[in-house]
Amino acid sequence: MLKIAVCVSGGGTNLQAIIDAIADGRIKNTEIVRVISNKKDAYALERAAKAGIDAVAVARGDYPDKESFQDALISAVDEAAPDLVVLAGFLVVLPEKMVAKYNRRIINIHPSLIPSFCGDGFYGLRVHEAALARGVKVTGATVHFVDEGTDTGPIIKQKAVEILEGDTPEVLQKRVMEQAEWKILPATINEIAAGKIKIG
Ligand code: GRF
Repeated sequence: MLKIAVCVSGGGTNLQAIIDAIADGRIKNTEIVRVISNKKDAYALERAAKAGIDAVAVARGDYPDKESFQDALISAVDEAAPDLVVLAGFLVVLPEKMVAKYNRRIINIHPSLIPSFCGDGFYGLRVHEAALARGVKVTGATVHFVDEGTDTGPIIKQKAVEILEGDTPEVLQKRVMEQAEWKILPATINEIAAGKIKIG
């Protein structure tokens, strides 16, 4: 059984895609052992509660300094003893010691075809605004291993999505989520659980 901890910051639609895929068998032999949010009001926490999944909030404002916040974040992950950490809309730069401790056991979903539109400052709607501003005709999503950089780790899976005439950032974001993110993240987790993708 692959034990996964899912880190979230917002709406949790990627978390929901994982929950649903486990429920309908598209992800086998996997259990979400904890959801960790850096935002106490993240709707993702509601999704976890509805699914009966242990969920904790580790909020920066509850700690006197960055070091103690990072230590609390690492402890929240360690307590769950996951095999795999999944960053699903998680907007915190992971502490280096966490990346080292969970080397090749942390994956992230990014809403573009890396190496386009990624790195510092490229998250959420900003990614789609940049793709539309550049005038690309195709974008998509990427699942990659997390290393010490931002969106720089080895690419695991990608899926392309067409940009249509008149797309707004919001419309494009939804299409990328529906057609790419919510498909390749569950598929990647399933392949890791099946041993088809090696971790660690
Ligand atoms: C999405 O744009 C996703 O691509 C990015 O974070 C945003 C929110 O995701 N990783 P979610 O709805 O919280 O899963």
